[in-house]
Amino acid sequence: MSFRSVFIAIFIGTSMVLAALVVNALRPAAELTGPTPEFVRATGKCAACHLNETSAIVWQYETSQHAAAAVSCFDCHRALDSQAGSDHNGFSIVAQVTSANCRQCHTTEYNQYERSRHALPAWAAVLGTEGMSAEMVALGEQYHPGAVDRPANELARLEGAGAIETGCLGCHEIGRPNADGSIGSCTQCHSRHSTSIALAREPQTCGQCHMGPDHSQIEIYNESKHGVLYNAQKASMNLRAEPKQLTTRDMPVPTCATCHMSGLEGQGVTHDTTERLSYWLFAAVSERRPNYRQGQVEMKEICLKCHAQTHVDRFYQEAEVVLVATNEKVRQAEQIMNELRAEGLLSPEPFDEKIEFVYFDTWHYFGRTAKHGAFMGGADFVQWHGNYQLLLKLAELREMAEALRARR
Ligand code: HEC
Ligand code: HEC
Ligand code: HEC
Ligand code: HEC
Ligand code: HEC
Ligand code: HEC
Ligand code: HEC
Ligand code: HEC
Repeated sequence: MSFRSVFIAIFIGTSMVLAALVVNALRPAAELTGPTPEFVRATGKCAACHLNETSAIVWQYETSQHAAAAVSCFDCHRALDSQAGSDHNGFSIVAQVTSANCRQCHTTEYNQYERSRHALPAWAAVLGTEGMSAEMVALGEQYHPGAVDRPANELARLEGAGAIETGCLGCHEIGRPNADGSIGSCTQCHSRHSTSIALAREPQTCGQCHMGPDHSQIEIYNESKHGVLYNAQKASMNLRAEPKQLTTRDMPVPTCATCHMSGLEGQGVTHDTTERLSYWLFAAVSERRPNYRQGQVEMKEICLKCHAQTHVDRFYQEAEVVLVATNEKVRQAEQIMNELRAEGLLSPEPFDEKIEFVYFDTWHYFGRTAKHGAFMGGADFVQWHGNYQLLLKLAELREMAEALRARR
């Protein structure tokens, strides 16, 4: 063969490959990666339309374990007896899928979740019993006496409707009482259509709500050794591991979910994020929870998969020292306020005088931060964002109290 014919053969061959690539690139993406007819059938025909209407939803669903397990769109969107369905192209569906729809197949997770403070107490923290049936209030009070049957939050009331719906409830709706009698939504951590455990194990997922100066858990985590290692080594971890089979080999570094929910190496997985806690850290002055002993045992069992007993016990002892010291500083602030009130220098209304805000910041921002930092390994939060600020605020409170007395 001459050089000329070899050249022509190569030229023609290359052109054909290029042409095929160009033609392929011009085809719509859906045609290239589109679902098979079997897939459309498996979704109960919903995907046939929804690939044109809301394509992202179909793709997310396609990657989920639900698609793999042949749970169809309709399995979640089917209207239950307790739900008002609407006719949708021949199907009676609900647009507002709630935890009641998930409960059909995931009763254990639902029941655990219902026992946690993520359920009714989270809602009651903002709106009290508004929207709850009498049965709901009774159920919530059974698990968390005093945390459900309480008045709506005063600060929220003063800030008004705009702040409540998209502000407070943006996070606290995790415990929304639903019209169908169920509580909350599971999608806050799993998302609607990827329904992923890998997503739920990401610290940032919890950090949507667990952030900011009044509950700086994500900031504390990111500066802790755990967070630093996780962020550096995440790519080598197996965040998709089956919960019942999760080992320290899959995740040698803990995320929020590991400590508060996961079952490492055969321990029980739980959706009750209250189970492993021993103090009410969010309170102005923190006291032991009724579950103190058991809560610590269960959390320490998780630590002990990766640390020695002495290490863990020392960590808790040091954190408890911070807790006692913080309680002491907050009590001093409380005393300043109580004295002013007794002297008639403060109005009975909440949040109408500047000093009330300074007092609130003292425990709500800086007291909490010091305690959360101590229990989750954030040195800077224990100290500069915590204890230092506590001292500063105490000085401010004293100065303001003196000024009020001088004006008398
Ligand atoms: C014949 C076509 C078609 C079929 C079949 C279909 N849908 Fe839809 N669906 C639509 C259209 C069109 C919309 C409106 C989209 C928009 O507003 O942009 C919609 C909207 C929705 C909504 C939002 C409704 C709302 O009020 O917010 C949900 C949920 C939904 N579909 C679920 C499903 C489910 C589940 C199935 C299968 C049981 C299904 N659809 C089958 C065409 C279809
Ligand atoms: C695991 C349960 C589950 C499955 C399976 C599921 N959905 Fe949904 N879907 C939800 C939830 C939860 C919502 C959010 C409801 C709400 O906002 O109150 C939702 C919302 C929607 C919406 C409205 C979204 C928006 O942002 O406006 C559409 C449309 C929809 N789903 C279609 C589908 C289609 C099509 C499929 C199948 C390809 C499907 N869903 C499968 C649970 C599911
Ligand atoms: C019709 C039954 C059914 C319904 C309804 C249902 N699921 Fe599932 N779900 C399943 C099955 C089956 C699996 C796969 C089980 C397995 O692999 O062990 C699964 C798996 C899961 C997983 C694990 C996913 C993973 O990454 O391994 C999560 C999380 C989940 N479902 C959440 C939900 C949520 C949230 C809802 C409601 C919005 C819901 N499910 C509704 C049946 C259902
Ligand atoms: C949509 C917002 C939201 C998300 C996402 C969220 N939480 Fe929460 N969480 C809350 C709220 C609100 C409370 C306070 C409930 C109360 O006591 O009123 C809370 C409380 C808690 C508590 C304390 C419970 C108690 O008994 O005091 C723990 C622990 C917790 N969450 C862990 C987590 C973890 C771990 C994740 C992620 C896997 C997570 N949360 C995701 C909103 C959220
Ligand atoms: C960014 C998300 C977010 C917003 C916005 C938010 N919270 Fe919270 N709130 C939380 C989380 C997370 C906790 C849990 C803190 C902890 O346990 O450390 C919490 C705890 C609380 C608590 C203490 C727990 C309890 O049950 O008594 C109250 C009260 C509260 N929030 C009320 C409100 C009010 C009122 C608003 C609006 C004015 C609001 N929150 C806005 C996320 C939020
Ligand atoms: C606060 C975040 C959060 C909420 C809210 C939440 N989950 Fe989960 N879920 C998780 C985490 C984290 C895991 C993985 C636990 C682990 O690491 O083993 C998980 C795991 C699961 C699994 C897999 C369990 C298994 O053993 O295979 C199912 C099913 C599930 N969740 C369903 C639900 C249902 C149903 C709801 C609502 C009632 C819900 N989840 C609400 C965070 C959450
Ligand atoms: C290494 C384990 C570990 C990790 C990781 C971890 N926590 Fe914690 N968390 C703890 C311990 C220990 C406590 C204090 C428990 C007690 O009360 O005895 C705590 C307390 C809390 C509280 C306080 C509840 C109250 O009483 O106010 C919340 C909320 C919380 N963690 C959420 C989170 C979130 C969100 C993340 C991730 C950003 C996270 N945690 C990461 C171990 C952990
Ligand atoms: C999944 C494994 C795992 C779990 C669970 C875990 N840790 Fe860690 N922890 C680590 C790793 C890895 C390091 C980094 C060690 C290093 O520097 O090489 C670390 C570091 C630490 C450090 C800082 C280093 C030091 O020795 O002072 C403290 C403190 C700590 N962990 C406490 C805890 C406590 C308390 C718990 C339980 C509430 C816990 N850890 C749960 C894996 C874990």
